[in-house]
Amino acid sequence: MGFQAPKGTRDLFPPEMATLRRIESAWRNASVNAGFDEIEGPTFEHLDLYTVKSGEGIVSELFSFKRAGGDVDYALRPEFTPTLARMAAAKGRSLSLPTKWFAIPSHFRAERPQRGRLREFKQWNVDLLGIDNPSADAEVIATAVHALANLGLTHEDVVVRISHREVVVSMLTKAGITPDKLDIALTLLDKREKMSPAVFAEKLAEHDLDAHAFSQFDSEISIEHAELTALQKELKAWGIAEWCTFDFNIVRGLAYYTGIVFEIHERSGAERAIAGGGRYNKLVEMFGGPEVPAAGFGMGDVVLSLVLKDKGLLGDGEELLPTPDVFVVSACDEGDELIASTIATLRSNGIHARRSYKTTRNVGKLLTEAAKVKATFTVILGQELERDCIVIKNMESGEQVELQRDQMLVHITP
Ligand code: HAM
Repeated sequence: MGFQAPKGTRDLFPPEMATLRRIESAWRNASVNAGFDEIEGPTFEHLDLYTVKSGEGIVSELFSFKRAGGDVDYALRPEFTPTLARMAAAKGRSLSLPTKWFAIPSHFRAERPQRGRLREFKQWNVDLLGIDNPSADAEVIATAVHALANLGLTHEDVVVRISHREVVVSMLTKAGITPDKLDIALTLLDKREKMSPAVFAEKLAEHDLDAHAFSQFDSEISIEHAELTALQKELKAWGIAEWCTFDFNIVRGLAYYTGIVFEIHERSGAERAIAGGGRYNKLVEMFGGPEVPAAGFGMGDVVLSLVLKDKGLLGDGEELLPTPDVFVVSACDEGDELIASTIATLRSNGIHARRSYKTTRNVGKLLTEAAKVKATFTVILGQELERDCIVIKNMESGEQVELQRDQMLVHITP
């Protein structure tokens, strides 16, 4: 009987795992460098946590379940923000503000798997709680940009498209969209780039929405909005102005945003969003906590990997796998007796040591194996053991020395 991994999931073999770890370490370094502390929450939550304020899109993509024999509804987390807001609310007034948190959890969404979209993915979350000003918004965006820059991307590769919920709502309202149609208008605007113009027109007609209200977003719009003007200044101050642009096509599908929103995209628009975020000043309060303004973003590993691969900034992962400092081989019976203790001595001294499991006595073959795993040194336990000596070969220079067995560490740790 054969089994396949569920649709939209990934089996990560060592090279893919090494690639993921590289991305995660860029995320972690950028977070720590910017003063964010790492948190984690449960992989599943009560279903209600998501139905309250995440928005239609996400709720329709939940993996929900009951415990066998139980009747409480749970859901695998599709995003981290509700968990984070719940955790902040639980701390109540004891939460010292500002609070800067980051997390790198796995998330689950039952969406149709496609390029850039899986059913299980990693998402880096960075959230700044307790400060409500454009400088905090810019700091959050700068943290995302720093991670991307550390991975080798430039402002010519990616763009942060910034918008504001208030501006978009007022543009739609002025164009005659009535309050009862606002939610669906925002949802459609959010999805517009992912649809053909014909399908979009069909959807507008279906909801009796005037196409003119949407065509205004096609051309460049200059809007006077105090927060955006202030944000522009802050983006300059944070040194990331050339990475950013204002773009009112960005709406964001999640319902909890209250102010600026943004998405990070590959410049040519070839891929889905690399990251998305914005300001959400009401969510902590909505979950029973004090009034805590907040801004943050989520960046997934899937689209980011595609973009990095496309730009030649990520190999197949083989190049990231660790290589041993020392490879130990035995070419005689006495060597077989000593190989475990030799390896143990090396490892307990912090040296990455591996061994051959081959039974051959052919030193040439054993050295080929050492070269294949890209060892720096090979320790050969051979006939020289009669004199209590070993041979150490420097695999790069080819230089080979015979020395007393108890001198091994002296030679290897410079
Ligand atoms: P989101 O736009 O739903 O925002 O997701 C953010 C990013 O997660 C996306 O831009 C994408 O890179 C990645 N992502 C989302 N769904 C998938 C999927 N099915 N497969 C692969 N990658 C995916 C949020 O989740 C907000 N909670 C972000 C946030 C944090 N806002 C404030 N703080």
